[in-house]
Amino acid sequence: MEYFSGTKKMLDFIINDWKLLLILTLIFVVYFYYTRTFDHFEKRGVKFMKPTIFLGNLGPRITAKKSFHSFQYDIYNYFKGNPYGGIFEGTRPLLYILDPELIKAVTIRDFDYFVDRNSLNSNEPRYLKQSLLNLKGSEWKGVRSTLTPAFSSSRLRNMLPLIQHCTQQMVEFLTQYDKKDVEMKDTMGHFTLEVIGACAFGIKCDALTDENAHFVKVAEKFNYMPRSKRMCIFFLLIFMPKMMRYLNISFLYPKSIEELVKILKAAKAERRSSGIKKNDFLQLLIDAAEKEKEDSEHANTYLDDDTIDAQSLLFLIAGYETSSTLLSFAIHVLATKPELQTKLRQHVEELTNGKEMSYELLSQLHYLEGFLLETLRMYPPVSRVDRLCTKNYTLPGTSVQVRAGEVVAIPIYGIHMDPDYYPEPEEFRPERFMDDEKKNRPAHLFLAFGVGPRNCIGLRFAMFSAKLAMVSLLKNFKFSACDKTDDPIKFDRGAMLLKAAKGLWVRLEAL
Ligand code: HEM
Ligand SMILES: *[C@@H]1O[C@H](CO)[C@@H](O)[C@H](O)[C@H]1NC(C)=O
Ligand SMILES: *[C@@H]1O[C@H](CO)[C@@H](O)[C@H](O)[C@H]1NC(C)=O
Repeated sequence: MEYFSGTKKMLDFIINDWKLLLILTLIFVVYFYYTRTFDHFEKRGVKFMKPTIFLGNLGPRITAKKSFHSFQYDIYNYFKGNPYGGIFEGTRPLLYILDPELIKAVTIRDFDYFVDRNSLNSNEPRYLKQSLLNLKGSEWKGVRSTLTPAFSSSRLRNMLPLIQHCTQQMVEFLTQYDKKDVEMKDTMGHFTLEVIGACAFGIKCDALTDENAHFVKVAEKFNYMPRSKRMCIFFLLIFMPKMMRYLNISFLYPKSIEELVKILKAAKAERRSSGIKKNDFLQLLIDAAEKEKEDSEHANTYLDDDTIDAQSLLFLIAGYETSSTLLSFAIHVLATKPELQTKLRQHVEELTNGKEMSYELLSQLHYLEGFLLETLRMYPPVSRVDRLCTKNYTLPGTSVQVRAGEVVAIPIYGIHMDPDYYPEPEEFRPERFMDDEKKNRPAHLFLAFGVGPRNCIGLRFAMFSAKLAMVSLLKNFKFSACDKTDDPIKFDRGAMLLKAAKGLWVRLEAL
């Protein structure tokens, strides 16, 4: 009887509490699903950070405890001394490559295995998906080789007057702030937009025209994202990344992008109908597309109209935040290091005073170049890049296999702040990028523009326009720290790219 009643009790329990049972089963399934990958590195004998369910190792990011840069710094130093190490972003394993020889192997020597970037599977319009940043495999190769000539030295030479005109506009604009405090990220953002407008959208850089004002107003908002949408995307990426492909969610601000495409289409139509050729990036794209059409050898054309739009928008997407970050941090460095500022101004004046600006003249400004590169070392706008493995690959000299579909990461900020490669990394020294010091360090340990065949295509354009801007700024203004200057700079904890938490304020004085 005892036995019978025990079983009955059990049965009662199960029947009455089926809800509880269901919940327990559900918890078990969810637990299993969101931890299923957590033995990934253990199986391979790779050192890894212990993950927690759902978040993997992204905890400090989700609670915004750390900026993305200091998160990267911590990961790097956790694995320092090992050639590689693994973390989990949500459930996705991500293998960080630390050893310089392995970085070289993955990004340069064995590039064939890692051609693609790990683009997020979002459901963007074609003119965004077709951008060089997201394209894969042979399509990427085709578009990249068509675009490469756009950044040749002869193209840059031709674009010099366009950019120079924008720097004059900027100087005029800043003159009204004589002896006042100015926030430099916004100011440099405005300048960068005008340069991009002039070179990639065919907009005349002139603060007084409606066309220019309209472009700047629309372009400024292209990556605006309300907080609620940001949270929503973050949640999706962590819990159901595969869903992104089916939902109609864009990482950009759709209204602004639509308007920009309209501006672009109008500019292209005008070029084609007027027959007037200009010396800008847009012209190169139009010309290349026409050439491709005539060239019957090309079985598949890469440059249809959508793809052209994609590349012009790309200038904005890839060039706006990065370039304006470089310039504004550079000004901050000048304001907080008066001796360096004086030295740099002397250098610029010595070499350029009384001469007309030219491509050759600009390339003689070695100290200015060192100064900008050192700014990018300490403050790289992008703190890490990744590569998607497309064919099974064994890391050379190890037994660790990276399989097709897996992702590796290159820790830009970690390498840049590693005292083994950059002694006293907290010290700002432009000389690191000059003469012997530069020669004695492998080139691929400077990573601000990425590395290898998939590096930043805009590298030379970015450096060229940054140098032009700096020459004008140094000749016309003196910068100093003011009450609102935040030194050392605290990084914003919500942003993915480098951003100063309190803006970059300096005091301006016209010379
Ligand atoms: C200081 C300014 C800039 C910085 C720090 C920067 C940084 C980077 C980095 C780190 C990458 C990824 C490289 C890699 O995966 O190895 C990249 C890619 C790229 N950048 Fe830049 N960038 C800057 C300016 C520009 C500008 C002005 C343009 C304008 C066209 C541009 C266009 C691109 C494109 C198209 C790619 C993708 C290249 C490809 O996938 O083939 N960037 N950039
Ligand atoms: C996605 O949304 C945009 C507007 O936000 C709309 O124009 C477009 O047609 C939508 N696409 C799909 C596939 O639903
Ligand atoms: C890659 O490696 C995995 C596991 O070792 C194997 O199952 C798969 O077939 C390989 N793929 C190719 C294309 O060789």
